[in-house]
Amino acid sequence: MERSKVTIPTLVEKMQKKQPITMLTCYDYPTALLEERAGIDIILVGDSLGMTVLGYDSTLPVTMDVMVVHAQAVRRGAPTAFLIGDMPYMSYQVSIPEAIRNAGRFMAEAACDAVKLEGGRNVADVVAALTKATIPVMGHIGLTPQSIAQLGGFRAQGRDAETAVHVIEDAKNLEEAGAFAILLEAIPPEVAKVVAERASIPIIGIGAGPHTHGQLLIVHDLLGFFDRFTPKFVKKYADLNSAITQAFTAYKDDVVGGRFPEPQHNYALKAGELAKLGQLLKDKGLS
Ligand code: KIV
Repeated sequence: MERSKVTIPTLVEKMQKKQPITMLTCYDYPTALLEERAGIDIILVGDSLGMTVLGYDSTLPVTMDVMVVHAQAVRRGAPTAFLIGDMPYMSYQVSIPEAIRNAGRFMAEAACDAVKLEGGRNVADVVAALTKATIPVMGHIGLTPQSIAQLGGFRAQGRDAETAVHVIEDAKNLEEAGAFAILLEAIPPEVAKVVAERASIPIIGIGAGPHTHGQLLIVHDLLGFFDRFTPKFVKKYADLNSAITQAFTAYKDDVVGGRFPEPQHNYALKAGELAKLGQLLKDKGLS
């Protein structure tokens, strides 16, 4: 049976009924088809694609134009999932009008259901402005990869009481600003528990323990398809790197060894045409 479109009320209902919300990143059409088929609730077109798909060292070089193209492809493959476009670096920090214009592109050009942006109290005014402009916003606090220069690298956050309070306050600020949900990245489970218990909006965790209302993983991590580094919180459900390397090597060996292509891979010349071809080539002086 086809599922109906996942909406904000669907997510809130799941939260209220204590049914865990499932969320994955996705960057392309074929993977979107599979995530849709698996019934994933929320799909995030994350700017992590800068690292997982485009090979950059961080997410900072990713632009709005790139994000929109990927979001469009994902929406074509996942018509009913709740689709979130991730606001890339400097697409919402410069000014509120620019943030609204860029977030609006995800909604208008890629049929996203919402956008996500990184930051707490420092972006509360942007969250409020986007919400007022009819664009639902998921907040993102804890480890925020766009701030690696300030954070000093990809490090867990909120590991002492003072910084934990900062995270808890940021979550409150985001909810008050109108965020429909919040993503917590790389913080201790005890801190995430406080945030989830105090919130009346869905709290999703990535590396934030079991107490959040839902879980997110980066699809390339889950599939074992990105091995430059693997965060502690990742569980690998497949080993695509090995499977794909084996397939590529077998293909190369077959071509080099003359085992591919085989007769079943060829298009047959129509009956009698080979003799005609020989004659034609002779007539044209090509044989
Ligand atoms: O870009 C992304 O995929 C993200 C996750 C790291 C949370 O923001």
